[in-house]
Amino acid sequence: MQAIVLVGGEGTRLRPLTYGTPKPMVPIMGVPFLARTLERLHHAGIRDVILPAGYMPQAIVDYFGDGSQLGMKITYVIEETPLGTAGALKNVEEHIHGPFFVLNGDVLTSLDLRAMVAEHERLGGIGLLHLIRVEDPSAFGCVVHDEQMRISAFVEKPPRETAPTNEINAGTYLFEREILDMIPAGRNVSIERETFPAVIAAGKGLYSYTTDDYWMDLGKPEQYLAAHNDILAGRMPMLALEPGATGDGAAGLGAATLHLPVHADANVKVAAGAELGPNVVLGDGCSIGARAIVRNSVLWDGVVVEDGAIIEGAIVASGCRIGSEARVLEGSVIGHDTTIERGRVLERGSRVGATAPISR
Ligand code: GTP
Repeated sequence: MQAIVLVGGEGTRLRPLTYGTPKPMVPIMGVPFLARTLERLHHAGIRDVILPAGYMPQAIVDYFGDGSQLGMKITYVIEETPLGTAGALKNVEEHIHGPFFVLNGDVLTSLDLRAMVAEHERLGGIGLLHLIRVEDPSAFGCVVHDEQMRISAFVEKPPRETAPTNEINAGTYLFEREILDMIPAGRNVSIERETFPAVIAAGKGLYSYTTDDYWMDLGKPEQYLAAHNDILAGRMPMLALEPGATGDGAAGLGAATLHLPVHADANVKVAAGAELGPNVVLGDGCSIGARAIVRNSVLWDGVVVEDGAIIEGAIVASGCRIGSEARVLEGSVIGHDTTIERGRVLERGSRVGATAPISR
């Protein structure tokens, strides 16, 4: 079985983070998210992966190469202009030899891919879509199906009161190769808006697979932080979390007051009197000054937090410096290599840093 992981989006909602790092390479607990996705595919026995990319593809190619280090074969297909979620599949048609998985590159889930293959074999049809139930489906694509799991309609972002179902498209699909015949070539095509409705109109069997797995779309900063909180709390079974602070740098946290959970990667330095947690992730080489406070935040690699600075509910990209006594308030997102001057206050929801893609 092959898998296509869609990694060509610009990730506009995660800006300015995605001006320095394409969304699939954004770290989850210190490791690029795509590495975790590939690991999951490997675990399911899938070794042949196609990556349709387009936005900052070099960062992806540089990290994974031909995939041999992971025991996989990775084929990159770079789009000159974005082809959309179905156009990207059509564009890699020549590399696809049979049934294949399609994964949105920004979905964190505990879905068992082998179980999904078994369900597709049981139900037949041209494809199987993973669905999950959410409390409020108004921000998602709702999927309506009958008792035999056959899908009859897609309703994009319905008002909560009129939503026909709370089952939503969770961004993992298993298709027969035949679906590629239904996607027009050479232009931008959306799988949700064009291809799925066309498949249903043509009377092809498109089936649903609803599970209670952990699921989070990492497209927005608040979801990115929520995913970390869920991993730290053990709600997303990703790491074998031990009691106490976790990570290769946990031993370096001794001088701080800790409110668990706190996770630190290697080479982290923390001064006496700093206060960390709850729900804090420190990337490789972060340095936290005396009296500094970091809560509910994810700091990427090499972030320097000077004495007395406070960071709450924020994402801070690699190489940033937060000046002494500065305050970074809830919902702030700071792009790569940005300096926040001494004493400055970043109001809630601030976005600071690069305003265009930076080459690294
Ligand atoms: P936003 O700009 O914040 O909406 O993010 P995005 O560009 O990633 O879009 P979205 O979250 O809707 O994309 C879902 C998945 O499809 C992500 O994994 C994207 O990388 C991928 N994707 C979106 N558009 C394209 C495209 O035109 N080509 C390719 N190859 N992948 C795409």
